[in-house]
Amino acid sequence: MATFPLTGHDRPGDPCTIVIFGASGDLTKRKLLPALYNLKALGLLPKDFAIIGVAVSPGDDGSFRKNITSEIHQFSTHQVDESVWEEFRKRSFYIPGDFQDAATFKKLKSLLAQVQKDLKIPENILFYLAIAPTFFSTVVHQLGAVGLTQETEQSWRRIIIEKPFGHDLMSARALNTELSQELKENQIYRIDHYLGKETVQNILVFRFANSIFEPIWNRRYIEYVQITVAEILGVELRGSYYDHAGAMRDMVQNHILSVLSLIAMEPPSSILGDSVRNEKVKVLEAIRPMSPEEILSNTVRGQYSAGKIGDEIVPAYRTESDVDPRSNTETFVALKLNVENWRWAQIPFFIRSGKRLAAHTTQVVIGFRCAPLLLFGKEIQNFAPPNRLVMHIQPEEGITLDIHAKRPGPKISLANVPLNFNYSDFGLAQAATGYETLLYDCMIGDPTLFHRYDSVDASWQIVNPILDVWNALPARGFPNYDAGSWGPESSERLIAKFGHQWHYYSKIS
Ligand code: BG6
Repeated sequence: MATFPLTGHDRPGDPCTIVIFGASGDLTKRKLLPALYNLKALGLLPKDFAIIGVAVSPGDDGSFRKNITSEIHQFSTHQVDESVWEEFRKRSFYIPGDFQDAATFKKLKSLLAQVQKDLKIPENILFYLAIAPTFFSTVVHQLGAVGLTQETEQSWRRIIIEKPFGHDLMSARALNTELSQELKENQIYRIDHYLGKETVQNILVFRFANSIFEPIWNRRYIEYVQITVAEILGVELRGSYYDHAGAMRDMVQNHILSVLSLIAMEPPSSILGDSVRNEKVKVLEAIRPMSPEEILSNTVRGQYSAGKIGDEIVPAYRTESDVDPRSNTETFVALKLNVENWRWAQIPFFIRSGKRLAAHTTQVVIGFRCAPLLLFGKEIQNFAPPNRLVMHIQPEEGITLDIHAKRPGPKISLANVPLNFNYSDFGLAQAATGYETLLYDCMIGDPTLFHRYDSVDASWQIVNPILDVWNALPARGFPNYDAGSWGPESSERLIAKFGHQWHYYSKIS
């Protein structure tokens, strides 16, 4: 894993050509190009590099260069330095073509050879599949058929695959089998952009670079863990994808379980190679699939109706474009999981995620147990809830530790005071899109922050039984929460049943 934030002190990635399938799509313009530009500006793109875009839209090198120039000016996270961009622009190429058509891949192969020769780039190739999942195995097979997945002693071939990896456990397994006909596991980089976020990576540093937290990071001192990923946004223009996915597949199966495993994992023996991924998968394996009865009592789903967020009136999910007007897809989930190992047995992990909620925030809350003796009186204890650690992942980035302090004055009176660390105080260059570290890591061959197949499988094993029960018992009473609220009432009841309440969204003050 690259050190972060990436600053330009690291060595550049290996010389390579980056081939982006889906080069005219949203992900490419909003995230990939800005991230690659940022890497270039930091000196972390190799000097010998080229970009080849492949997409169905008609076009040529000229129109592609024109389009990406206007896109980078629209979506760059930093002021564009024209001389840096010019170097990038003139190394960009385009192939229009159908992914089902073998001719597209023959053209790609000859363009690659030409570009590598003209620009003197070694034969390393990074393929990025920024395309609909239905095309993942088609593209990989087509690449295999023209010999582009084959590595040599001198050159690597790596492929970054966007989520979702499968629609359920069976399809994830089938996809993996398909891919493994052409690729070795170490060539497959299953991306999860959450793992590119500074503050998600900081969970590892916080836990394992400080000696004071690890001794108390267990069931003896921690009473519960909460992970909230709340979005104000709705489904935007992705209704047709989202209506078949829902919040469980879209957020829980990948991003949230990944954050949970970083919070719960054992110390890895190293930060390099497979050590972190070995520990993460053990956490997922320790979350036993729930029985149908447990699913009914430990999970909640919701769907938003019209509502108001700030001053904006927003429509109901069922009226969003490309969404079935009778859709039963969940836009909100809340659940309680247990990690059944010695460190965490019986400690509830509460998770909630939803669209069109009252605030945009991703936070992890670690609730510590009460002090063993109510030395300052029971009533006072009520005003001073147990210590709590809040990891603010986004939009604010930082850490708050709530501790108790004596209020000034003659009487003993306690106050809850926050110890705050705000990431922005570092004032360092930040990986602005979240994709920089991941693209860079792929270029240096470090898979730490990517999902290995066993962890994808393990997370589907957690999620799939829930989806099966939900499928067998379609939701009644949808929509069941107003846009702009914190989700359905049943989410509050779920956590209350276990003697807790959701941590109310907090800022780093
Ligand atoms: C994506 C989901 O993976 O993550 C989207 O498909 C979601 O539905 C997005 O909005 C959230 O990412 P972030 O970085 O904005 O929290």
